[in-house]
Amino acid sequence: MAGIELADPALARRVTDGLATVEDLLDKELQSEFGFVTETASHLMHAGGKRFRPLFTLVAAGIGPRPDAPEVAIAAAVVELVHLATLYHDDVMDEAEVRRGAKSANARWDNSIAILTGDFLFAHASRLVADLGPDAVRIIAETFAELVTGQTRETVGPGPTGSPIEHHLLVLDEKTASLIDTCARYAGMFSGATDAEIAALRRYGRAVGVAFQIADDIIDIVSADSGKTPGTDLREGVPTLSALYTIAAGTDSRLIDLVSRPLRDEAEVAEAVALLSASDGMVQARQTLDSYAGEAAAALSDLPPSSARDALTSLTRFVVERTR
Ligand code: IPE
Ligand code: IPE
Ligand code: MG
Ligand code: MG
Repeated sequence: MAGIELADPALARRVTDGLATVEDLLDKELQSEFGFVTETASHLMHAGGKRFRPLFTLVAAGIGPRPDAPEVAIAAAVVELVHLATLYHDDVMDEAEVRRGAKSANARWDNSIAILTGDFLFAHASRLVADLGPDAVRIIAETFAELVTGQTRETVGPGPTGSPIEHHLLVLDEKTASLIDTCARYAGMFSGATDAEIAALRRYGRAVGVAFQIADDIIDIVSADSGKTPGTDLREGVPTLSALYTIAAGTDSRLIDLVSRPLRDEAEVAEAVALLSASDGMVQARQTLDSYAGEAAAALSDLPPSSARDALTSLTRFVVERTR
């Protein structure tokens, strides 16, 4: 299983079976009366993707006494549908060309198709979550609101008086960690975990969620094989954590210029990638990543020892090591 060690064979089997069930549920939700919508929705669904959120949901359900409850796999499919829908819309907002190693929907078709397909996926996620009862519906509604708040806060920016770094970390918590928190919450609820266990799982989800997005933004700069176009944030003029630390330090004026505006010239993108990769700002971003990973580990220590808890420990490690 990519990025997670499932040392216990029973856990490995449960998670493998769970992921197969999730794929079946996802395929059912792709069916539209319009063939082209099924095609545009299948495009990214089948292009790859780590299935991080369903995987996390299935593993975290191992904390409760009923990890095999059918609601767990349904919840895992719901969170992936919501996630995928946000990717269709996010790529429109970010004018991204590549997603999951394939052309983004906006690049392959156009913005209207990408927006419609995202809406279609949200609609189907809402229908599927209704099978989980009113509490689950309210939770996903609140999660979705928080995620949209994060995308909005990122678009609006920190304003002239706010701290850009605090603003950025809040955006990451809202746009990314909110959904990963909900994976943890669903996993705990539907597997019958105690309230204290659900609270610890959620603290883990929040911390690992922010860590996951910081890592993703580092990979955008340092890695060539993310399945996305490297340097997308630099091209768009979106400063991520390493750039914000560089700006705050105020010493490297050339790099500050490069990360403070959209870059259209490929030579400038290459220069910014090289400078930022080797910058103190990158060192600080990695320290912040480690600190969120530490918080995630601390949340796990509030859970009783189990093979699921060990697997979550390995998941935290994977999130950090992906950036090396
Ligand atoms: C991409 O999420 C958007 C972020 C929150 C970083 P993933 O990295 O989970 O993307 P896929 O699902 O594997 O494509
Ligand atoms: C991903 O955000 C979208 C959400 C978390 C809702 P980003 O724009 O930062 O992620 P990538 O780099 O496109 O995957
Ligand atoms: Mg994006
Ligand atoms: Mg974005």
